[in-house]
Amino acid sequence: MADPLKIFNIVGARPNLVKIAPLMREMCKHASVQPVLVHTGQHYDENLSNIFFRQMGIPEPHINLGVGSGTHAEQTGEILKRVEPILLEQQPDLVLVVGDVNSTIAVSLAAVKMGIAVAHVEAGLRSFDRSMPEEINRILTDALAEYLFVTEEDAVDNLLREGRPREFIHLVGNVMIDSLLHFLPFAQQSRIGDELGLRNGKGWQSFGVLTLHRPSNVDSTEKLSELLGAIDAIAQRVPIVFPVHPRTQQRLSQDGIKHHPQLRLIQPLGYLDFLCLLSKATLALTDSGGIQEETTALGVPCLTLRENTERPVTVSQGTNVLVGTDPARIVGAAQDVLSGMRKAGRIPPLWDGHAAERIVEILLRTVPCRKSAQGIT
Ligand code: UD1
Repeated sequence: MADPLKIFNIVGARPNLVKIAPLMREMCKHASVQPVLVHTGQHYDENLSNIFFRQMGIPEPHINLGVGSGTHAEQTGEILKRVEPILLEQQPDLVLVVGDVNSTIAVSLAAVKMGIAVAHVEAGLRSFDRSMPEEINRILTDALAEYLFVTEEDAVDNLLREGRPREFIHLVGNVMIDSLLHFLPFAQQSRIGDELGLRNGKGWQSFGVLTLHRPSNVDSTEKLSELLGAIDAIAQRVPIVFPVHPRTQQRLSQDGIKHHPQLRLIQPLGYLDFLCLLSKATLALTDSGGIQEETTALGVPCLTLRENTERPVTVSQGTNVLVGTDPARIVGAAQDVLSGMRKAGRIPPLWDGHAAERIVEILLRTVPCRKSAQGIT
C-alpha cells in the first residue's frame, strides 16, 4: 500500500481554527491521509486560541512555532524562518493554508520555494483595497497556491482575471459554514444569554452584537470614538454586546474612550457562546469577514462597518449590508432593522456543511497523481 498523504494543515489566528476544524475532522476519517496540524502561534491567548481547540475538538497541534505578536515583517519573517527547517525535515506532500492572515502567506511562501504544493482554502476573495493587510496576503497566497478552493462565484472570476489556471480552481463551498452547521446544536445549549441577562423565562430579548478589530477602524482613537458614538446611539434602543478583540482593547485602555451603559463590553468569547449570541441577535454590526458569512448562513441582519467587502455574495444573496463608517449611515441602517425593515437573504450555493468533504475528496484524487508524475512514490 502507498504511504498516506502527509498534509500539513496551518493555523495561526482565531478564524483559522474555525476553518480547520471540519478539515481535520474529515482528514482523520481517511486512512490514506496523515494530517499534521501546525500552529504558528500568531494568536496564543486562551480566548483567541485554546478554547477553540477544546470546544471544536481540534487535535493538539503536532507542531507549535510559537511566533507570537509583532509587526507584519517580524511576524511573517519569524514564521518563514521557523517553518522552513520543519518542512525540510518532514517533507509533507502538501501544505494546506486557510484564510488571509500573516500565517497563511508566510507558510505558503516557505513551502512553495521548497517545491511543496500549497492548497489555499478560501481563495480568490478580493476587497480591491490594498491598504488592508489581508488583501495583500490573499493576492500573494493565491499567486503561489496550486489548489484554489473557493467559497463563491465572484472569487472564481477574480482568480481567472489574475491569470490563475482554470484547472487549479475548485468551487467547493465554505468550511466556516461547515463548522457553523455542525456546532449550532451545541451552541444552543450555551448559558451566555442568562449570564448576560439577555434571556429570561419568556425567551430572548432584542439585542445587537458588535465586533470591531480592523486596523483601519480601531487603530485611530478618532475613528474608534466616532464609531462607538454611533453604536451608543443604537444602544439607547437595544443592548449591544461587544466582545472586545485585544487590538481594540489596547486602544480603548490607552485612550479611556467612554460608552453608553447599554453597550456591554466583554472579553472575547469562545466559539459556542459567540455562535449562540449571533444566532439569537436581532442585528450584528461588524468589520469581520467571517461574521458577514455566518450572519448570512443564520439569516441574521448584518451591518458591515467597512467601505468594501471581499465577500460580495453576502451582500448580493445574503443578509449583509455594507454601511461604511459614517455614523449617521450606521445609525439609520440600524434603526431600519430595529423597526422591522430586514433585508431578506438566501444561503449561497454549496454553503451546505459539506465543503471539507469536497476538498478532501479532490486532494485524495489528485495529489497522488501529482506525486507519481514527479516520480515520487
Ligand atoms: C489577525 C489577522 C486578521 C484577523 C484577526 C482575527 C493578520 C494580518 N491579521 O489580526 O486578518 O481577522 O487576526 O482575530 O494576520 N494579541 C493578544 N493575544 C493574542 C494575539 C494577539 O493580545 O493571542 C494582541 C497583540 O497585542 C497583538 C494584537 O493583538 O499585537 C494584534 O494581533 P495580530 O495577530 O497582529 O493581528 P490581529 O489584529 O489579531
